[in-house]
Amino acid sequence: MILIGHRGLAGLAPENTPASFRTAAAHGLSMVEFDVRLSRDGVPLVFHDDTLERTTTGAGPVADHHWAAIAGLDAGSWFAPAFAAEKVPSLEQVLRLCLELGLAVNMEIKPDPGRETATAEAALALALGLWPDGAPPPVVSSFHSACLEAARRAAPHWPRGLLAERLPADWLGQARRLDASALHLDHRFLEAGQVANARAAGLAVRTYTVNDPVRAALLREWGVAAIFSDYPHSS
Ligand code: G3P
Ligand code: MG
Repeated sequence: MILIGHRGLAGLAPENTPASFRTAAAHGLSMVEFDVRLSRDGVPLVFHDDTLERTTTGAGPVADHHWAAIAGLDAGSWFAPAFAAEKVPSLEQVLRLCLELGLAVNMEIKPDPGRETATAEAALALALGLWPDGAPPPVVSSFHSACLEAARRAAPHWPRGLLAERLPADWLGQARRLDASALHLDHRFLEAGQVANARAAGLAVRTYTVNDPVRAALLREWGVAAIFSDYPHSS
């Protein structure tokens, strides 16, 4: 079972910042997850929330701000004063950093309403342009099927993960339609039988966000392929 750093390694450094990805690599993780959304002027950037308040010195919806303004914000002080120099990174910065650090990536596409296709297309165009042929391709995931459809059109050969809190009733049909290779599910609602059924259908199960090593051990027994965690505990 693989341990995927959640938002970099969000328990030990401010989420989705360069420090978070460097911390994941420093703890020996091989893969990280991060969230991709668009600025007002269409720049793909790595940020979780719809709004800036919780994790930056800014305020208001990310989608209302131009990239130049977002890039100047302090994205680390909220976590600890030592991280005051951390900024919101662009997707390009994060992809280049992960390549430099040798981290495999899961790009979660997190669109604002109405920008599902645009967000996925911008992220995929950028990633396709800089990702080396020889490197393991990014896993693209989203809660939004329109994002995965756009990802499939842009990069049919890159793996896709169908992301949901609870296993959808028509999970197999959705996965087949999107040509997804994995289900990314909230572990709080996951059941052993669901993992077995997914595996029998040829789908890997990755589950978020698992910060309890005892829970991680049980999920491993169930046959989960990977957990997303905020911490580098052994899995
Ligand atoms: O991609 C797994 C997980 O990150 C989904 O939830 O809200 O942390 O992006 P969230
Ligand atoms: Mg995420």
